[in-house]
Amino acid sequence: MAEAVVGDDVFGDDPTIQELEARAADLLGKERGLFVASGTMANLVAMLSHAGRGDEIILGHLAHTFLYEAGGCSALGGIHPHTLQNEPDGTLELGAIERAIRDSSDPHQPPTRLICLENTHNRCGGIASSPEHMRSVGDLAKRHGLLVHLDGARLLNAAIALGVSASELTAGADSVTICLSKGLGAPIGSVLCGTETFIARARRMRKLVGGGMRQVGILGAAGLHALDHHIERLAEDHANALRLAQAIAAMPGLECPHGEDTSSVWTNLVYFDVTRQDLDAASLTSRLQARGILAIPLGSDGRRVRMVTHLDVSSADIDLAIEALQSALNET
Ligand SMILES: Cc1ncc(COP(=O)(O)O)c(C=O)c1O
Repeated sequence: MAEAVVGDDVFGDDPTIQELEARAADLLGKERGLFVASGTMANLVAMLSHAGRGDEIILGHLAHTFLYEAGGCSALGGIHPHTLQNEPDGTLELGAIERAIRDSSDPHQPPTRLICLENTHNRCGGIASSPEHMRSVGDLAKRHGLLVHLDGARLLNAAIALGVSASELTAGADSVTICLSKGLGAPIGSVLCGTETFIARARRMRKLVGGGMRQVGILGAAGLHALDHHIERLAEDHANALRLAQAIAAMPGLECPHGEDTSSVWTNLVYFDVTRQDLDAASLTSRLQARGILAIPLGSDGRRVRMVTHLDVSSADIDLAIEALQSALNET
């Protein structure tokens, strides 16, 4: 990062960012890439570029874009979200998508423009959706003249877990974003990819939301390092997550539904519920924090916890996390 050759990316002439954008586009099978500050900004810029005021987008009720991005598409774009129930594995049922598409000849209805998918699906346990599903949604969208955006914050986790190339998962999508700052381990940044025309529009939208940054090649260099060194090793995170989940599934007072299901395609997220009545998710996570283990309590019933494995968590750290969980459960 210290040695990165930088330019002014607001003018599009930062060579390190240019290299990163080209590498990411190539990896994802798209024409062009655009570096943005975060996954949230990537999704926002994509939605603003694909859809306009009064247009409707179809997305899952547990999509990160719907739950956790401050309602950016409607707040800033006047775009109308139409949520469908996510299946337990994070996918959207094809028939449900088809039924949700509006009648464009009826002036009462907002016109459907875009379908947003997420892979891996965060709130559904980090499950990876198959290339077949991704392609089927793409085909459906084409038949109806719609566009597809893929929130691939953890798409490379999906590719590694499924043993397929990232571009096989993006074939049906008009745009896709990956986060460099999650499992890939870079400090900051995401790359949004799509056609030349889409990226030209997205560049304008990035400027509009204040996301044009100048000598940003210092961050681009970290992103390039992540693409060079941190993709294949995601398999270690997945193995660590599976071992952690299996240990949790065996602990009385905790329930990790996926932990007992070794046939699931495992990635790096471990969700579980605290079922013991004298303990809730917030108390358990604060006991864990006191033992040096960070986990997030979430959900409306106060029971659910999320743990994440990543490149700074070794297999030995998983042993420590398991010990910390056992000792936190035994604390009186
Ligand atoms: C699936 C998914 N999409 C997008 C984001 C947003 O990324 P960021 O936190 O970089 O804005 C996240 C963050 O956790 C995520 O899990």
